[in-house]
Amino acid sequence: MTSPARGGVFSKATDERVVRFTESISFDSRLYAHDIAASVSHARMLLDVGLLSKNEFSQIETTLRKIEQEIEQGQFAFDERLEDIHMHIEQALIERLGDVGRKLHTGRSRNDQVSTDFRLWCRDAIDEMDIRIIALQTAFVERCEIDEGVILPAYTHLQRAQPVLVAHYWLAYCEKFERDRGRLSDCRRRSNKCSLGAAALAGTSLPIDRQQVATELKFDGVANNSLDVSSDRDFVLELAFVLTMVAEHLSSWAEEWILWSTVEFNYIGLPEHFCTGSSIMPQKINPDVLELIRGKTARVVGNLTSLLTLIKGLPLAYHRDLQEDKPRLFDSVDTVAACLDLAAPLVQGAQLKREAISERLEQGHMDATTLMEWMIQRGIPQRTAHHLVGVLVAKALDRGVALRELSLEDFQQADADLDEQVYEVLGVENAVQAFVSQGSTAPREVAGQVRLWRERLGLVS
Ligand code: ARG
Repeated sequence: MTSPARGGVFSKATDERVVRFTESISFDSRLYAHDIAASVSHARMLLDVGLLSKNEFSQIETTLRKIEQEIEQGQFAFDERLEDIHMHIEQALIERLGDVGRKLHTGRSRNDQVSTDFRLWCRDAIDEMDIRIIALQTAFVERCEIDEGVILPAYTHLQRAQPVLVAHYWLAYCEKFERDRGRLSDCRRRSNKCSLGAAALAGTSLPIDRQQVATELKFDGVANNSLDVSSDRDFVLELAFVLTMVAEHLSSWAEEWILWSTVEFNYIGLPEHFCTGSSIMPQKINPDVLELIRGKTARVVGNLTSLLTLIKGLPLAYHRDLQEDKPRLFDSVDTVAACLDLAAPLVQGAQLKREAISERLEQGHMDATTLMEWMIQRGIPQRTAHHLVGVLVAKALDRGVALRELSLEDFQQADADLDEQVYEVLGVENAVQAFVSQGSTAPREVAGQVRLWRERLGLVS
């Protein structure tokens, strides 16, 4: 079998090693449905501009649909000598329709075809990814109700910093993933331009109607410059980057929960059916899924790096190097989708170890900053208050007690004007209640944010 692209100029068959080296059917068969959708729209346009007859169009459409069904049902034979999905579908058409099949490639090239198919595929991948991200956000927001009122240390430098409501934690992740959703939708908008009709690189002398094809395929218009089209892989890189951000967010969350599930932290119990055991240590319950979410982020970063490197030295316009874009992006999409699919049930199924958390909540003097702010409200300059609280913390550390366990004399030694009311802001519970600023962990703020998120995600209260 020879490729329809190997025309009269060749007299020798392609070397077998070259066939094997250059094929892309082993991965681009995934584009079949998009290739067929684009071909049907292209053929309908050829009919409308008078380059195909009604009868020819209808034979082409019916046969393409038949081929689509066969591929779907696994009844279509792939052969690396036909290189890619575009050639397979066209060759099957020619085998079945003869000269009518030979007309489909009128006014187009594989360069604009592959770009169109891939854009359509990316568009679907973006829409499906968005649904997965929403499912994860939903899991976090649902937890806010389950874990209502629970206070947890928040950290900087992995040192206890200030107390927060755990819902504040969950919504922090929702915000990150919301930005990823925004990036996905930006990427979709920029990518959603029709390449078809740019032909090889310069356009065509045939009277095609690009706008018609674009409209039928639900693109927001045509890509303006034919020379740009065949080299443009911005949409692939942009999506690879957005997926990398999603993976990075998942990875930090996974790392946090791995820490939280240790005996040392003991904040969270992971659902047992999402953990694995050790072949030698009978007591082990390991967070492998979280570790792999963190680990798989490496390949998503690697894919982005590969893609950036792939295009960096390519002059206009198409180069075969570009064929290497698909395995990288497919892998990023598959990997991030798989991570999201496991992250959501993990978030749902985990249990906070409320007692273990609250037992140690007064450790670490997390009320120190609130105490300082209380002093500021009493007219003490911030730098002075910062110093005084530092002295008080040193005293507490020395005695191995919490700030609220210091005596009034201790406080008055720091500043003679301090009175009994100081105890109203001490202790983690009081510290959390003291917050007021917008976007803070103030209970009112958090409750408002939870409400907003529930509304945004269409959850009923
Ligand atoms: N298999 C090729 C790819 O995926 C199709 C485009 C080939 N174009 C060309 N001018 N050889 O990139």
